[in-house]
Amino acid sequence: MTQQKTAGFNSNTTMSKKVHKIGVLTSGGDSPGMNAAIRAVVRTGNYHKLEMYGIMRGYSGMVEDDIFRMENRSVANIIQRGGTILKTARCMEFFTPEGRKKAYDNLTKRGIDGLVIIGGDGSFRGAQTFSNEYDIPCIGLPGTIDKDIAGTDFTIGFDTAVNTAVEAIDKVRDTADAHDRLFVIEVMGRDAGYIALHSGIATGAENILIPERKTNIEDVIKSLEEREKRKKLVNLIIVAEGDEFGGANELTNVIKDRLPKMEVRVCILGHIQRGGSPTCMDRVIASRMGYHAVECLMEGRHNVFVGILNNKMNYTPLNEAVKKKQRINEEWMNIVKILAT
Ligand code: F6P
Repeated sequence: MTQQKTAGFNSNTTMSKKVHKIGVLTSGGDSPGMNAAIRAVVRTGNYHKLEMYGIMRGYSGMVEDDIFRMENRSVANIIQRGGTILKTARCMEFFTPEGRKKAYDNLTKRGIDGLVIIGGDGSFRGAQTFSNEYDIPCIGLPGTIDKDIAGTDFTIGFDTAVNTAVEAIDKVRDTADAHDRLFVIEVMGRDAGYIALHSGIATGAENILIPERKTNIEDVIKSLEEREKRKKLVNLIIVAEGDEFGGANELTNVIKDRLPKMEVRVCILGHIQRGGSPTCMDRVIASRMGYHAVECLMEGRHNVFVGILNNKMNYTPLNEAVKKKQRINEEWMNIVKILAT
């Protein structure tokens, strides 16, 4: 028999029911450090004598009943690996009531009574809807390279992704310098400019274009003309893929059109930013967050995601994480402008 809840139940983020069996899944775009988080969840749960289960390919594994027991050895030798051993997917069926009902039945036939969801805001939205309907506490861990979730200073994977971008941009700068060229470099970030902002500051980029701010193409052209006059010919423009003006190709076409003498090249970094071995920072935050996810479930917290704010654990209700985005600090944009002279 299913235990359907009445809507609005989850506005409360604590409950007294004891959790015995926990399922863990990774959902949405993968991010380096997800494996470290899975390892932390599984080992913390096993330490407390809970039964731990892996759910394959995000919510698809719940709907399709692809669920298996995980022991400590199941997560051996993964802390240093990118990607996710549980694989990931964006599951449309879970966004239907029928899909969620199947998922619930598959969990309850095993007695799974708690879930840890590692993913971005889309994954948290799924968890929020599910726990609104069914009596299964959900804890989110922010796993996304985009760092676009309010309530945490870090998301699992951001540090690795941004360092990958920095390494690549440094290499581009060498060849830009050799030829006195302008490079327009596109980094990931469909809705968020954090990779662009951080990697741009770290590589001394002249312009950074991000979705959170309106791009004024006239300003971009004017600053290039002004630098040309000063014989500053090596320039890097970092653009987030989701900038409303368009990506690197669109921007380059306009620059070529307006400044035909300028030597311009495009470099799109793409998915290399999502892969690779996680940095120390990502492994550490993933381990801390994974440990606290299980602690949360044991303490009776539910429907929150575990973040780190000012180096302290911070718990944000899932529905707030879904609504709020991180804000770009305007001071950082000023730093870019002043330092790129
Ligand atoms: O994981 C976030 C993200 O990397 C975005 O920055 C990017 O736009 C998107 O995922 C790409 O998703 P996909 O791999 O499904 O094309």
